[in-house]
Amino acid sequence: MSANALYTDLSGYYDLMCAGIDYQAQSHAVHRLQQIFGNAGTTHLDLACGTGPHVRYFIDLGYQSSGLDINQPMLDIAAARCPEAQFSLQDMSAFCMAEPVDLITCFLYSIHYNADLAKLKACIASVHRGLKADGVFCFNVVDKNKIDNALFAKHTVDHAGERFTFNSGWHYSGHGEKQSLKVSIEKANATGTQVWHDEHPMVALSFAELIDILQPYFEVHIFEHDYEKIIPWDSVSGNALFTCVKI
Ligand SMILES: C[S@@+](CC[C@H](N)C(=O)[O-])C[C@H]1O[C@@H](n2cnc3c(N)ncnc32)[C@H](O)[C@@H]1O
Repeated sequence: MSANALYTDLSGYYDLMCAGIDYQAQSHAVHRLQQIFGNAGTTHLDLACGTGPHVRYFIDLGYQSSGLDINQPMLDIAAARCPEAQFSLQDMSAFCMAEPVDLITCFLYSIHYNADLAKLKACIASVHRGLKADGVFCFNVVDKNKIDNALFAKHTVDHAGERFTFNSGWHYSGHGEKQSLKVSIEKANATGTQVWHDEHPMVALSFAELIDILQPYFEVHIFEHDYEKIIPWDSVSGNALFTCVKI
């Protein structure tokens, strides 16, 4: 099984893992940011869209939404959830679009799936090219220097007679441009328990490094990672919501 089994062989369990995420609140907060900072347009692309929950909410908000992802099994679920949307199988570090859009998003820290700093920079350049004038790029991100390797998020969901336990946490060695997301999935039913472990390699960077990469392309606004209240980043938190307006 691949290191990213969660997005391939186990993609059918992905939405169970994310059952506690308020996708509606996230989509609505970013819609507000687009109204405040953007060009009021309603064309949208979601990078690393996964199974398409944000695309669903953006369509329901009146957007003409599309998504891209590198794993076809995730896109198959997204297409069933959002038959109105266009989805494409692409790597976000080198993607192309038929037409520029008004809003590009990348949720759930997926921007870190750009494998290294060179690929992240290429992704940001593609996003800039893919936006219309005053278009907005919105994503959440974690500062490598604030990662606590001991911190794990755990939750359990009962589904169709089976109990699923999901664990996930960041790991950063303390130096270099690589971090990882460690995920474990445990499925227990009457016949026994199965456990899968994934380790997802990701790019690591500090917010200062990220701001330096973004500033030639965008006016950068940073907010606390709170989708209920849009409040400026306190310069201390290790998680933040970046809102970047094309210049
Ligand atoms: C944590 S999931 C997030 C999915 C969705 N954005 C959400 O909020 O539920 C990460 C997604 O990134 C996708 N992914 C990983 N590497 C990618 C890449 N280089 N380009 C595009 N998508 C990628 C995976 O297939 C997976 O669907």
